[in-house]
Amino acid sequence: EKKIAIAIDGPAAAGKSTVAKKVAEKLHYVYIDTGAMYRSLTYKVLQDNIDMKDENAVLNLLKKTNILLDQHFDVYVNNEKITAEIRTSDVTDHVSLIASYPSVREEMVTRQQKLATDRGVVMDGRDIGTRVLPDAEVKVFLIASVEERAKRRHEENVTKHLPSNFEQIKLDIEKRDRMDTERTASPLKKADDAIEIDTTSLSIEDVVNKILSLVQEVE
Ligand code: C5P
Repeated sequence: EKKIAIAIDGPAAAGKSTVAKKVAEKLHYVYIDTGAMYRSLTYKVLQDNIDMKDENAVLNLLKKTNILLDQHFDVYVNNEKITAEIRTSDVTDHVSLIASYPSVREEMVTRQQKLATDRGVVMDGRDIGTRVLPDAEVKVFLIASVEERAKRRHEENVTKHLPSNFEQIKLDIEKRDRMDTERTASPLKKADDAIEIDTTSLSIEDVVNKILSLVQEVE
């Protein structure tokens, strides 16, 4: 059975990582969360007090920063575990600015392509099907209404006993989507050959099964 690459893109909080992890688990593939890489850099920028309006300073920091995604879905920068830290609102609020810099994206894309050289990967993000892995055998673009995405994120926070405000989440998602769609360097966009799946009224299992059936078609 030949190993392939599966690209999963879509707007914020569309369920990409949940679905991608399950697909990877079923296929015994590696899951690569590219959003976690941009989040890790953003965390470092904040921690080191780098001027985030200075693209060059941010790029220089990235060059010195080793980002590791392990198989337990933990995230490390320069050997420091930051799995929880990259999900804070401070990081979420600034990540789209950091991810808008063309030189930063170029370096990230190079790293991401290296991680996928052996195939057998499920990679999620915004530009995987269009830029990182344009020759991925399966490309999926996950969408859901902003109401539904905000509701899911809110319920997730409530379950985890985290403070949560539905209206604020909705505003944050809309803002991040706008920045990710309107930037000039590989904006969020469905690849022409990606299959769009609207998950608004689908269960996680439904979406996973749909993707697994797309995988079977190419095998
Ligand atoms: O996937 P997640 O929501 O964690 O991504 C955080 C942010 O990282 C996105 O809003 C986007 O600005 C950026 N990102 C990106 N390209 C990717 C993955 C994430 O620009 N491939």
